[in-house]
Amino acid sequence: MTDTGPDGAQPARLLRDTPVIRARLAWRRFARRIADHMPKGLYARSLLIVVLPMLILQSVVAYVFMERHWRLVTGRLSEALARDVAAVIDVVETWPQDPNWRTIRSIAERDLGFTVTLLPGSTLPPPMPKPFFSLLDSALSEEIEARVHRPFWIDTVGASDLVEIRVVLQNGILRVIARRSQAYASNSHIFLVWMVSTSLVLLTIAVLFLRNQIRPIQQLADAAESFGKGRPVGDFKPRGAREVRRAGEAFAVMRRRIERQIEQRTTMLAGVSHDLRTVLTRFRLQLALLPDGADREALEIDVGEMQAMLEAYLAFARGEGEEEATPTDLRELLRAIAQDAERAGFEIEHGFTGAPTLTLRPNAFKRLIGNLVGNALRHGEKVDLRGDHSAGWLTITVDDDGPGVPEDERDNVFRPFYRLDQARNQDEGGTGLGLAIARDIARSHGGDITLEASPLGGLRAVVRIPG
Ligand SMILES: Nc1ncnc2c1ncn2[C@@H]1O[C@H](COP(=O)(O)OP(=O)(O)OP(=O)(O)O)[C@@H](O)[C@H]1O
Ligand SMILES: [Mg+2]
Repeated sequence: MTDTGPDGAQPARLLRDTPVIRARLAWRRFARRIADHMPKGLYARSLLIVVLPMLILQSVVAYVFMERHWRLVTGRLSEALARDVAAVIDVVETWPQDPNWRTIRSIAERDLGFTVTLLPGSTLPPPMPKPFFSLLDSALSEEIEARVHRPFWIDTVGASDLVEIRVVLQNGILRVIARRSQAYASNSHIFLVWMVSTSLVLLTIAVLFLRNQIRPIQQLADAAESFGKGRPVGDFKPRGAREVRRAGEAFAVMRRRIERQIEQRTTMLAGVSHDLRTVLTRFRLQLALLPDGADREALEIDVGEMQAMLEAYLAFARGEGEEEATPTDLRELLRAIAQDAERAGFEIEHGFTGAPTLTLRPNAFKRLIGNLVGNALRHGEKVDLRGDHSAGWLTITVDDDGPGVPEDERDNVFRPFYRLDQARNQDEGGTGLGLAIARDIARSHGGDITLEASPLGGLRAVVRIPG
């Protein structure tokens, strides 16, 4: 046993593996399950934070009130009414009455506040359907049962303000019609009405306030998202509570810094390329003056290549930064690229599924796809260009049946001026900027490019852009 120490005690790791840890794990699982069912938006969450305590407090208060006060008062009132009815029954059965019960009726009406009548017969109507939740019905039934000890029938539902009680006597049925308020703490529900309506008012105020607090956060999120996707941000102004405003200001500063950096990089490299081009041109002129020979030819080829690289970079640098993102029809864009390739005599399939319109920089994007298609056409015979826009992502796939790129080179080929063609002894290789530029454009739209093996046998380039 390697787990036990020299004195036979469990090592600390196992000791800690006991109830505390298990309880903590269980709690974490429970919390995660709760979090899964919680609303995900800040607005809904904040509303919940406001509403839930209010709801709990009110439920507790209402329950206690119902339980203690309402039930008690209604019970006492019902008891009093049942006692009065019992007294009337006692009087009627103990002392003989005139045929119309004039005396007891006037006593009941004047002193007890209800009317009594004698109905012939001895059968009660069928019991009324019990209301689902009625304190009065149950309290009154209970009290009459306890005090009268005879078959009875009550109707607390029928006539709105009145309660009817029928009790079977020896020579007929006693019918009592009392006011509902005699047996029931009827205006207690005002308390509930007040409580609910006050909380509705509070809730409305909370909704209005919360909306104003959350809007700046949403605006900040929208602005950051647009910026990440390379779209126009509009005139974003930090607003709202102090913390939110601070985050907004930090974003604005960061955005300005990034924009400045991109601009600086582009201008600097464009400047360098431009100056180098001037030097190269001079170089070329001087080369032309040299006597013919193999050395001179090799130098001329090198200088030509350098010039091509600089031209490619300058063409890219000129385009960047100035273009605005606009809604672009991608189906049309892919069709145009495929058509150009077909016209040049290549075999290319193309297609697009999903919503074709997306906001992006059309020229830059065309260059991105054009670079990938250009590579595919250069290396393969057959090319397949597919676009799909669904579930918030634009995916463009370029397949070819060429030699492909080995897995350990798939990162390297994105490096500027990095080419495999030289190793493959292809004369017509480009400058090696194509993929670097393509990735730069994809990333400036908030997306990326990945390379993998194609089902056609060559390389598959996948561009994914959020949108
Ligand atoms: N579809 C492909 N099949 C095989 N190899 C490829 C493919 N696409 C790119 N590569 C390899 O990756 C290298 C870099 O590609 P990249 O597009 O950056 O440069 P390039 O095509 O050589 O030059 P440029 O695009 O600037 O004219 C290429 O030299 C090539 O070896
Ligand atoms: Mg290329």
